[in-house]
Amino acid sequence: MPKLTDKMIVKKDGAIGWMIFNNPDRLNAVSMEMWEAVPSIMQYLHEDPAIRVIVLKGAGDKAFVAGADISQFETSRSSPDSVDAYENATTAAFDCIAASTLPTIAMIDGYCIGGGLGIALSCDMRIASEGSTFGIPAAKLGLAYPPMGTRRLVNIVGPSFAKEIFFTARRFTHDEALAMGLINRVTTREALDAHIRDTCDLIARNAPLTVQNEKRIVDECIKPAENFDAARCDALAAECFASEDYKEGRAAFMAKRKPVFQGR
Ligand code: COA
Repeated sequence: MPKLTDKMIVKKDGAIGWMIFNNPDRLNAVSMEMWEAVPSIMQYLHEDPAIRVIVLKGAGDKAFVAGADISQFETSRSSPDSVDAYENATTAAFDCIAASTLPTIAMIDGYCIGGGLGIALSCDMRIASEGSTFGIPAAKLGLAYPPMGTRRLVNIVGPSFAKEIFFTARRFTHDEALAMGLINRVTTREALDAHIRDTCDLIARNAPLTVQNEKRIVDECIKPAENFDAARCDALAAECFASEDYKEGRAAFMAKRKPVFQGR
């Protein structure tokens, strides 16, 4: 198990792999060592075939993640070289979450700000509790948001809401986030954990190849038209039709029993 910093926790629980941002005194603000730990944690969870879905959350009861750790900016994100190194670390963390072959869910209970929202945007889905707030205060700090993070935001909420989020730099309520499509679902705080586990359970019971290949196909669909790889999508679809699991799915339906999928 990777143990690069105490401020990142990794856990396995049945089919769920948990990655927990653990800096509650600073609302789980992400320090450099936390950004750097993300790729090896993701790799560790992917190496276990029992893990079928990855959930990202923050420790404590106030925040998912309140952004990058601003207290490190003077030393780690001020000179041109250090800005580049910092951007590389954040981008590597965002990208490895986005590139996960498994479904990823951001479980948001509280502040989801700046780089925290970037982490959530790198996930496939965002499920939040009532009272959670969302925003990108880049314009309050005078810094720029990682361009791939902006791209993910635009893909999710569209250019008009993305511009509102950047221009105003204000915090948005869970209702506003839901209306923008920034989050998939809202629950009460008490129901959040059960809702996440139920969602993971639904995903884990489904045919893994279909889940994973549809994820790849959806990600292919949001590329610019000239980069859309139709042949790759066809191959991914064909792989599902040729799978043992498709045979099992048909047989189980006809026999009125639950399917037992193998992921092949
Ligand atoms: N980096 C470093 N420390 C942070 C932080 C961040 N991104 N976000 C919060 N903290 C720290 C605060 O400095 C405070 O530390 P202290 O107790 O030593 O003073 C602690 O976390 C609690 O935050 P506080 O501001 O007291 O909580 P709040 O509920 O009043 O406000 C926020 C919450 C999220 C609105 C506020 O903390 C904030 O604006 N944080 C910065 C968010 C941001 O700009 N993120 C983008 C970074 S690029």
